[in-house]
Amino acid sequence: MRKISFKLGLLFFVFVLGVEAVLFASLYVTLVHSRINEEFEQLLARGNSHRDVLEKNYNPSTLEHVKLMESEAETDVVITNDNGKILYFSNHILPVAKRIIKKTNKNIPYRGMIVQKNWQKESHIATVSPIRINGKLKGYVYMFQNTDSIQYMIYKLKHHFIMVGILSVFLTIITIAFLSRVITIPLIRMKQMTEKLSKGDFSVRLQVKGGDELAELGKAIQTLALDLEFLKKERKEFLASISHELRTPLTYVKGYADIARRTNIEEEERNRYLSIIYEEAEHMEKLVKDLFELAQMDQHSFHIHKESTNLCAFLKKLYDKLNPAFQAKNMSLNYFCDGNITVHIDQKRFEQVMMNLLDNALKYSDQSSTVSIYVKEKKKNVMIIVSDEGTGIPEEDLPHIFERLYRVEKSRSRTKGGTGLGLAIVKEIVEAHGGSIYADSIPGKGTKIIITLQEG
Ligand SMILES: Nc1ncnc2c1ncn2[C@@H]1O[C@H](COP(=O)(O)OP(=O)(O)O)[C@@H](O)[C@H]1O
Ligand SMILES: [Mg+2]
Repeated sequence: MRKISFKLGLLFFVFVLGVEAVLFASLYVTLVHSRINEEFEQLLARGNSHRDVLEKNYNPSTLEHVKLMESEAETDVVITNDNGKILYFSNHILPVAKRIIKKTNKNIPYRGMIVQKNWQKESHIATVSPIRINGKLKGYVYMFQNTDSIQYMIYKLKHHFIMVGILSVFLTIITIAFLSRVITIPLIRMKQMTEKLSKGDFSVRLQVKGGDELAELGKAIQTLALDLEFLKKERKEFLASISHELRTPLTYVKGYADIARRTNIEEEERNRYLSIIYEEAEHMEKLVKDLFELAQMDQHSFHIHKESTNLCAFLKKLYDKLNPAFQAKNMSLNYFCDGNITVHIDQKRFEQVMMNLLDNALKYSDQSSTVSIYVKEKKKNVMIIVSDEGTGIPEEDLPHIFERLYRVEKSRSRTKGGTGLGLAIVKEIVEAHGGSIYADSIPGKGTKIIITLQEG
């Protein structure tokens, strides 16, 4: 569960530790270097200042004085003549001094130089400054400093660094542990939520704060949960209404079949029952066919094959085909379309759309009324309007008529062979064409169904 926070934390830790180590190491090296340099410079400066004093007054009392000064200090002095013979020395520095003086080459610059700089291994570091009087070399001032104090100082420094290092590693661990938890807690919550989702529990809710990517991910999952919940509810309702839709015709079929198989009924009566059974079976067939079609549209396994079509010619053909049905009901069908309007449509599918709309107009209108098809152009859009003078649709039903199985008057629609799926199919097809559809109706006056398509 906490794997991600551990991984992230470890990654951060290794990275931060690497950076810290490099910074600490370079700081340490620089610090040691400058501290040691300082020591050398101080020693050399001290030697030079003794030399300056001696150059001014080169006499035994000054020499004694220098020797005395150094016997009190941490440093030691050795004064030689120009041949390296030791004349004066403070404290018992002799063995070291002799060795160094012997090794020293006699070409020493006036500003002095370091003659022993190995502070790590040797017991003393040393510098030398030449004494010159009137341009003539008179002798040398050797300065010595015990390396113990330097080593101790470096040891202290190292100790300090290690302590601070441990402390900062510790702080780093705490900070990272905290940070990685802050980052991963929402992730873990989302993981738990999606697990619940996949188990079918859509009621989970996530609290998201802020506007970063994590919060966005959380919101997306939240939306997904709501959508899934809605879909689940819709599917349940849909299945309930389908079974309801099928139950009615099945009850009829079963009941009439039961009567029809009786032996003691008239042939004429039996035929009546059989034709009712036939009609009901037909209705079910239509329902199942429409449902199948909608299911296909849902799975996106249906494709529309758009082709460039002259809209007026297309509608004229449709008009010719459907006009007889309207005349049979003593109604008139008009169509108004002029000009050269080209649309990209799947002709077979679009014929289905128009047939459904005109079928509704025919079904829900009284005799001797008029149904009209208009085509209007508006900017880059083409509007196809099917208008009737029929019963109209109550305002509260208007937003629902494109829903599956929705019918305003179930019994009235049923007697006319309606399934309540026609407009749902129409909407799917129009939207698959990139168009839109809506209805406008005044109850008792008539209905307009308006399709908007893009021209071209
Ligand atoms: N032109 C219309 N006039 C009045 N009511 C209509 C019209 N078109 C659709 N309706 C209403 O919308 C409902 C849904 O239409 P539809 O999906 O085609 O189902 P069906 O025609 O099978 O009943 C219809 O039952 C009807 O109540
Ligand atoms: Mg219909």
